[in-house]
Amino acid sequence: DPVKAPEFSKCGVAKDLNKGGAALDVNCCPPMSDKIIDYKLPHVSKLRVRPAAHKAKKEYIAKYKKAIQLMKALPPDDPRSFTQQANIHCAYCNGAHDQAGHPGLDIQVHNSWLFFPFHRWYLYFFERIMGKLIGDPTFALPYWNWDNPKGMTVPAMFTDSTSPLYDTKRNSANMPPAVIDLGLTGATDDLQKVVNNLTIMYSEMVRSVNTVEDFMGKPYLDGGANDPGPGASERGSHVAAHVFVGDPKQPSFEDMGNFYSAGLDPLFYCHHANVDRMWTLWRELKTPIPKDITDADFLNAEFLFYDENAQLVRVRVGESVDNTKMGYGYEKMDLPWLNYKP
Ligand code: C2O
Repeated sequence: DPVKAPEFSKCGVAKDLNKGGAALDVNCCPPMSDKIIDYKLPHVSKLRVRPAAHKAKKEYIAKYKKAIQLMKALPPDDPRSFTQQANIHCAYCNGAHDQAGHPGLDIQVHNSWLFFPFHRWYLYFFERIMGKLIGDPTFALPYWNWDNPKGMTVPAMFTDSTSPLYDTKRNSANMPPAVIDLGLTGATDDLQKVVNNLTIMYSEMVRSVNTVEDFMGKPYLDGGANDPGPGASERGSHVAAHVFVGDPKQPSFEDMGNFYSAGLDPLFYCHHANVDRMWTLWRELKTPIPKDITDADFLNAEFLFYDENAQLVRVRVGESVDNTKMGYGYEKMDLPWLNYKP
């Protein structure tokens, strides 16, 4: 059977998975609501186009900053506030939520085939909340284009310490001009890192992917154990960016380097936009592998989120497979890794 949406009323203590599951001193349970609506994707009249962050224009950045600033200004118990949005990641990833009907069995959306759809829905509502706050229904999140040499540093808009996009808990050694190391190879030469990164991208998108599960991750089922296994992209570039940005001087690699705190860094959503973009790109590759999981236990898995009107909604994985039906797409960029066979 598919994993069911968690029961918010049973939400409990979050655990620090960087520290063997020790109880965390944060309450990341969502606000309660007595009404849950089965979410229906609204009709799409104009696609939101997510821009590459390093190319974003001044006016766009101003809007984006405004949206995050307004989110941060909402009362902390408003489910659309920045704090509550960050808590979503903690609740679904640090064991605060149990699997419905399985008390004591933590939900963990990572390291499984729920990774891509969970984060897609998460960003979907985050983006709609931003659009609503600034009164722009076509507003789209930027993506950190770390798969392209031009985007392999932390995007400049995140590094201004006076901006709502800034976060103090980052590894200062890895701020621009430091080039990301997608393979966690420890390489120190920038040119070498770029070459490694393209090789890694080719590997996790093409060379090492022979089945749909190699990309999406392994089945995670109702009552099933956590961490059945991540897909190549989740395990690779996705984790690497978290490690690159998280601050090793913090007690538990906050913010980006720990599930519970990752969403507190605005860069998280920009990073995950590119992770999500990898899913859309992979589905378009002309490789002879079926691109979609057809198993009903995947398609019928459910999550709960608050929408842009602070209404609690139940969403299904199956509705998230096609991003255009969800009303957004990505600005096209070159894919220099696509035929990168050193
Ligand atoms: Cu839910 Cu990048 O982690």
